[in-house]
Amino acid sequence: MKEQHPTNIAIFASGSGSNFDKIAKKAETGHLTCNVKILICDKEQAMVMEKAQALGIPVFSFRAKDYENKEAFEKEIVDRLQEEGVELVVLAGYMRLIGTTLLEAFPNRIVNIHPSLLPSFPGKDAVQQALDARVKVTGVTVHFVDEGMDTGPIIAQEAVRVTTEDDVTSLQSKIQQVEHRLYPAVIQQLVEGEMYRVTT
Ligand code: GRF
Repeated sequence: MKEQHPTNIAIFASGSGSNFDKIAKKAETGHLTCNVKILICDKEQAMVMEKAQALGIPVFSFRAKDYENKEAFEKEIVDRLQEEGVELVVLAGYMRLIGTTLLEAFPNRIVNIHPSLLPSFPGKDAVQQALDARVKVTGVTVHFVDEGMDTGPIIAQEAVRVTTEDDVTSLQSKIQQVEHRLYPAVIQQLVEGEMYRVTT
């Protein structure tokens, strides 16, 4: 069998970083054919930063308000990603729309995970949106990123049942269990070259 070269990835996250942690640990132990080269984070106090430090993964943290506009901070991010030889960008709780600068630098090479079955419940508070809508099934979507809010082509989805006992905490927890399994599996398929979208 052909030896596979690990793909250099960057993870963008601004929250607790549970997805970051799962992906980084799987990469570290060789269960994912990736090197997590850098964490990009736009929240100074985010717990994900501590997780990166514990794993010895470099962090680029920034405050959007220190820059003139999105293009300015995305240019700096692109420079850092290129310095690190990043080939695939993985969004895991990065709460900003990706702009043209990043999209053009990494065409079809940016993926996101969202806690609903898109196109239902895009944007913020997707778990609460599902509860408010009283759906019986919600889930997880992994998709390519385009300029829209959770609108890019869908790569994988998995359903999660909603029961009458569920509240945000319990449903979020069921969803995250799926995320922690599905996201690394999709990333592995991507790096094995099976799923890269053909540019039209
Ligand atoms: C996840 O639920 C993901 O679907 C959404 O942001 C959340 C990040 O969670 N995009 P964590 O920081 O990885 O725990």
